[in-house]
Amino acid sequence: MSAGMNTGDLVPDDKIFAHRRDAIGDFDFGKETARVFDNMLERSVPFYAEMQRMVGELAGSFATDHSTIWDLGCSTCNTFLAMEHRLRDKAGIQFVGLDNSEEMLIKARKKILQAGSSCSYDLRYADLNETLDISNASVVLSLLTLQFVRPLHRERVLKDVFRGLNDGGCFILIEKVIGEDSLFSRLFIEYYYEFKRRNGYSDLEIAQKREALENVLVPYRLNENLALLESVGFRTSEVFFKWYNFCGIVAVK
Ligand SMILES: C[S@@+](CC[C@H](N)C(=O)[O-])C[C@H]1O[C@@H](n2cnc3c(N)ncnc32)[C@H](O)[C@@H]1O
Repeated sequence: MSAGMNTGDLVPDDKIFAHRRDAIGDFDFGKETARVFDNMLERSVPFYAEMQRMVGELAGSFATDHSTIWDLGCSTCNTFLAMEHRLRDKAGIQFVGLDNSEEMLIKARKKILQAGSSCSYDLRYADLNETLDISNASVVLSLLTLQFVRPLHRERVLKDVFRGLNDGGCFILIEKVIGEDSLFSRLFIEYYYEFKRRNGYSDLEIAQKREALENVLVPYRLNENLALLESVGFRTSEVFFKWYNFCGIVAVK
């Protein structure tokens, strides 16, 4: 068990792939995953807490009075909860979190309630594979989520984000990436699995999860992501985080 992020709730350890399965289906974000998700994030995402801190810092610099902060794939709302104290000097900030897992949204609402948040929250079911109606955004987040959107729809998601952002607003994108060169791709993945072993995942868990993610999580190269952002109109973008096969980019309209 680990302490649930921001709420003090106990989150069970992620054992989803601990036992050998006869057949491995596609990974999903349903009830089984939502139950252990905060533990999974802490153990599967390098520097997760630091990334959340950095995202909060960036959001604090770009958020403007009476605007909306959108989180695409908000999951259990760790990000909003980690950043809200940085927005106390802003008036009328509205948070909108979108996710296509009802189970994640249920967890998120419970955590917000337990945290006693005084912010205005709106958590909605939405599928990023369909057109998004984003508006009045000073900050839009997609943290470890665009990688789950079908490649066919990614450029359209970014266009929806760009259209919904106010001038000077920012888009913060964190993704798993593949290396520019297959040599580094291979090495980075080895180092990543080593990181998961250090966090208590067995070789069986690592192998079964990799198989489950095979058709679901499709990473791009860092340069492909940067090119996409430029092509939809962002005037500047900068890499603010990089750890082997993980990267964070901030792009400004
Ligand atoms: C890795 S989690 C995101 C973690 C979260 N942003 C954070 O930083 O803690 C990916 C989330 O995206 C959601 N998701 C995946 N595909 C989606 C889609 N097509 N539409 C909406 N949400 C989606 C999943 O349900 C899941 O909650």
